[in-house]
Amino acid sequence: MAKYYTEPSRTFTEYLLIPNLSTKDCTPANVSLQTPLVKFKKGEKPAISLNIPFSSAVMQAVSDHHMAVALARSGGISFIFGSQPIEEEAEMVRKVKGYKAGFVVSRSNLTPEHTLADVLDLKEKTGHSTLAVTDDGTAKGKLLGIVKGSDYRISRDSLDKPISQFMTPYSSLIYGRLGITLSEANDLIWEHKINCLPIVGDDQRLEYLVFRKDYEAHKDHPNELLDANKSYIVGAGINTRDYKERVPALVDAGADVLVIDSSDGYSEWQRDTIQYVKANFDVKIGAGNVVDREGFLYLVESGADFVKIGIGGGSICITREQKGIGRGQASSLIEVTEARNQYYEETGIYIPICSDGGIVHDYHITLALAMGADFVMMGRYFARFDESPTRKLKVNNNFVKEFWGEGSNRARNWERYDSGGKSGLMFEEGVDSYVPYAGSLQENLEKTTSKIKSTMCNCGSKSIAELQREARITIVSATSLVEGGAHDVILKESGLSGE
Ligand code: IMP
Repeated sequence: MAKYYTEPSRTFTEYLLIPNLSTKDCTPANVSLQTPLVKFKKGEKPAISLNIPFSSAVMQAVSDHHMAVALARSGGISFIFGSQPIEEEAEMVRKVKGYKAGFVVSRSNLTPEHTLADVLDLKEKTGHSTLAVTDDGTAKGKLLGIVKGSDYRISRDSLDKPISQFMTPYSSLIYGRLGITLSEANDLIWEHKINCLPIVGDDQRLEYLVFRKDYEAHKDHPNELLDANKSYIVGAGINTRDYKERVPALVDAGADVLVIDSSDGYSEWQRDTIQYVKANFDVKIGAGNVVDREGFLYLVESGADFVKIGIGGGSICITREQKGIGRGQASSLIEVTEARNQYYEETGIYIPICSDGGIVHDYHITLALAMGADFVMMGRYFARFDESPTRKLKVNNNFVKEFWGEGSNRARNWERYDSGGKSGLMFEEGVDSYVPYAGSLQENLEKTTSKIKSTMCNCGSKSIAELQREARITIVSATSLVEGGAHDVILKESGLSGE
């Protein structure tokens, strides 16, 4: 006979946090959102921690290299979508790893033979007032000089004057050597009262430019998630079909962590994939998705560095309707957390868990953390921002961004729904949709994290681990749900409403 669960399958909205005593030192400024990304032994530190408990979903409409840079800059991690050719995914990873915060590859370049007219023309096109002069006019050519606004006078100089006659030549330039840190570069900028510092490599090759204003922007991101070489940390999605070709390419490109992207991770395919990666590479790997104790332990025993929880709760997901499988996100999380904590007690190994999908309100994130998640993964949330890869459109007078599921006909990511046998997507498990456009990632994340920190203070917790230990959580009845929203008043329009 089938096994029946006695408890219904519950979602976040069915729960509320009950405040604990807030001590005076428990203020948002004292709250840390740092959290482990990968497993670690008791008393040791995880090899990778996040500075905020956010990851962006392994989806075409969410996680490309632009999103990865923006999110790592704010302290979280993106998993670049795997439903694209191997080389293209590896190239995105490479772009993130090659991105040096504050170091930019020069985008306006000319040769000494070009003229003042060419300078004015390029300035008009790009808006850049500092131009690099290289032997071949490329961004990585031999640096021969720099042209800035103070090097010429439009009223006096003739337009056909060659750059070689008015540029600041290399011999008079202040420059940094490749390998210099951003703060050392900034010291030179201040010391010599310049706005732009060229960074040169061997043979006088131009590598980067560092601008005074970019350093200021860099300082605005104290949570940046960087590796030992000061490159942004990035994850990448893989599947259980082509991992023997995909994983080497991603590791070679510099991926810090992989995740097997699947709608149902409780499978021997996942075990084989994890074991292949562990046997051949020194890279972290997460697995999933599962919704119960058995699935969790299976992936942990297969070697997973973290486990992703959630089936059927995603905003664009129709798996539950199509196949009748899945489980309420809160119930899944509660059961897996219990298994994880017990595993930790027995083995001394802590396995981080990621709550994936179904986050609608910001407080759902706090609830997920209180219920035991170490970080969350979100698709819809990030798809709304400037940094997501999809088009911004105006629909019915409102700005929206496109957002489609990996199981939709648009993405055709059949590997995510693979149950062995024939390849291809037989039926859809996701929809193609719009989400309301919400502006920049940084601004939204600041708002969300400040809500989380404030709630953690209500719960008397200064860290996620403390919240997981001390939180008190209650189920809400159907009628108290009504009480929770604005009720029995006539609402005026408010410009301050949030998620
Ligand atoms: P969201 O944050 O509620 O939008 O959920 C995002 C999550 O939904 C992803 O991280 C995936 O786990 C899951 N997902 C992505 N595409 C699909 C799909 O087409 N069908 C079902 N689930 C999906």
